[in-house]
Order: sequence, then structure tokens, then C-alpha cells
Amino acid sequence: MTSALFSSIRLADLELANRIVVSPMCQYSADDGVASEWHDSHLGMLTNSGAALVVVEATGVERRGRITHGCLGLYSDDCEAALAAVIARCRRYGTAKIGIQLAHAGRKASASRPWEGAQALKPGDDPWETIAPSAIPFGPNWHVPREMTAEDMERVRDAFVAAAMRAIRAGVDAIELHGAHGYLLHSFVSPISNKRGDGYGGSLAARMRYPLEVAQAVRAVVPKGMPLGARITGTDWLDGGLTADDAVTFAKALKAAGLDFVCISSGGVSSDARPPVAANSNVPFAEQVKREAGIATRTVGLIAGSKQAEAIIAEGKADMVALARAMLDDPHWGWRAAHALGADVPRPKQYQRSAPKVWPGAAYRD
Ligand SMILES: Cc1cc2nc3c(=O)[nH]c(=O)nc-3n(C[C@H](O)[C@H](O)[C@H](O)COP(=O)(O)O)c2cc1C
Repeated sequence: MTSALFSSIRLADLELANRIVVSPMCQYSADDGVASEWHDSHLGMLTNSGAALVVVEATGVERRGRITHGCLGLYSDDCEAALAAVIARCRRYGTAKIGIQLAHAGRKASASRPWEGAQALKPGDDPWETIAPSAIPFGPNWHVPREMTAEDMERVRDAFVAAAMRAIRAGVDAIELHGAHGYLLHSFVSPISNKRGDGYGGSLAARMRYPLEVAQAVRAVVPKGMPLGARITGTDWLDGGLTADDAVTFAKALKAAGLDFVCISSGGVSSDARPPVAANSNVPFAEQVKREAGIATRTVGLIAGSKQAEAIIAEGKADMVALARAMLDDPHWGWRAAHALGADVPRPKQYQRSAPKVWPGAAYRD
């Protein structure tokens, strides 16, 4: 049996050994955006997970674009130097390629870390002013953002470009823009959060305009051979919100702007949304985007089993799968999946003696 999950895929000039991606995961463990020793440990571990690509967490392109005080950033020389050092160490020992998700949290910024409640920061917690397409809060008890001016939009667009250049210098193999989960770029596209009366609000074409301007500006500085993609929403899970048809339109526009892939996620645009907790819940949206937009498509969300992941790829529903919590729970998930599907993945030489081919104990595992 030849595994579809373990077949290679090419994004621009980047060859990925298989279709498994470690989903970006905020670690809330940076200091003014600067990566810490935790990032060495976390990313070092996941670059040896068997996934072909590890995407570094949502990384704020400006200080106020971070979700929390602990979020990673790429807006200073210190941020860039620390990230470059982490990536260099991961490359020395890890087998995966390394991507990064560039983000601006918009109206969901200035929040506490999940283990501190994931709420809007209180006056004593050093909160900061948030910005968004419209002055509408994410939910009750959230900051009311300031509606972005033309100057804000220019500054943030330039910050995405500058962060992309820093990421390239720091040594990444791929870049993705965070256009999902209710953060700034998604909040422009969604009619739930964008009520602007200028040329950036109203129709879907107008709401997509700013994220597309950002994507085009970033594409202009990212070498053609380096994959540039975006995580977008398959649905807002809200009446009157974005739908899978809108995701297709957005994905087509991103493709026309020169992007190489999209990742289909969903939810997060308002505290009213109640996404279902179900395996493969984003897969139908990804399938539609892949079919109708004709762009390399990844999906994510409650994918945890090797056969489950294999079926998504083998049945042509997505080109790649991203796993988040399953990778934290089992940081060698890809090794186990390879064994289960009769495939092979590279291991660092220090761990080669644990390969099932040479370690009889593998047969005794539950
Ligand atoms: C600890 C943690 C941090 C996350 N941070 C990010 C992030 O930085 N960017 C992002 O797009 N999604 C983020 N997510 C969402 C995941 O990437 C993923 O889309 C979601 O967890 C569903 O996938 P799963 O069921 O495999 O966990 C995070 C999830 C977790 C568990």
C-alpha cells in the first residue's frame, strides 16, 4: 500500500516530504515578541514529529498586533535575532521544513493568556488600544477597537511586509498570513466585523480589498520560489457571516495575488459563534475550495488519527492536513502514523535506534 499522506507535495519551489503539517500554535512564552528557550524546546521537538512542515505560531507584525503580552512578534531586531537562532537550532537537529504565520490580532488583541483567562486585559494589566475595520468589540467585556484610518492600514500593511522580510532573513522556508479566527485580516473580510462605509467595506469584493492589498505587498517581497499562503475561514458559523462560497471567492483572489496555498479553518470572528466540536468539521469547506479555487489546500480541526488523515488526502478532499493538539499530545505523531500506514519518515540520527524496523519493542506498543 502506498500512503497518500506520506506522498510528497511541492509548494512553489519547496518540496515537502509528506502532507502532514504542524499547525501554528501560540505559546504565549515570548518577551516583548522575542522567542525564549521554550521556543527552542517546543519547535525543536515538533521539527522531529514526522511532519514535513512546522508552522511557527501566529507572530505579531507589530507590537499591538500581538494577542497577549506573551505572543511572539517580528517587529524588532531582537525579535528577528532570537527567531533566527531558534530556527538555526531546529535545522541542526530537526527533519521538518519551517514556516511561519504572520498575524495581527486586531480587535482580539490586548488579551490575557489562556491560562490567565483569555479575557480582554484589565486596566492594571497594561492593556493597549486595539484596532479593527470597525469599532465593534469581539464580544461583551472585550475592548472596543478604534476604527482603522488610512494611515493605520498603510502602517499595518507595511508591518506585514517588514515582518515577512525579517522572517526570510531569519531562515524560514514558507510564510502564511493569518486570515482566520477573527484576527485583523479575517475581520476585514467578514460582514460580522466589517461595517465600513468606505471602499474597504460593503460588498465581499470591498471587504477582501485590504487583505488582498496586504497579500500583494507581501508577495512582492517574498521570492517566487518561497511558498506564501494564508489561513482563511471556511465559515463564520453565524447567520449573515462568511460561507464556504465566500471562502472560494477569497481563495481565488489570493491565488490571483500569487499565493501558493490556503489553509481552511473556521470560526472565531465573534463570541456568539458556536462552531461544532466534530472531527473533520472543516474538511467539506476545504474540499469545496480545493475543487473550485484550484489552489493547494490544507485543512485543520480535530484530525487525530492516521487513517483519518490518510483518508482526507487519499479521497482528494485536501492536499495537506494540519494537526495542532494531536501533535502536542504525541510529538512523534508522524512517526507513529508512518508506521501505521507502512511508510517511512526520517528521524534524527540520535533516535534512529527507535525506528520500528530495527526496534522489536515497537510491536508491543498499545
Ligand atoms: C495551543 C494552541 C495555540 C494555537 N495557536 C494558533 C495560532 O497561533 N494560529 C492559528 O492559526 N491557530 C492556532 N491554534 C489553532 C490550531 O492551529 C488549530 O487550527 C486548532 O487547534 C484545531 O486543530 P486541532 O483539532 O488539530 O487542535 C492554536 C491551537 C492551540 C491548541
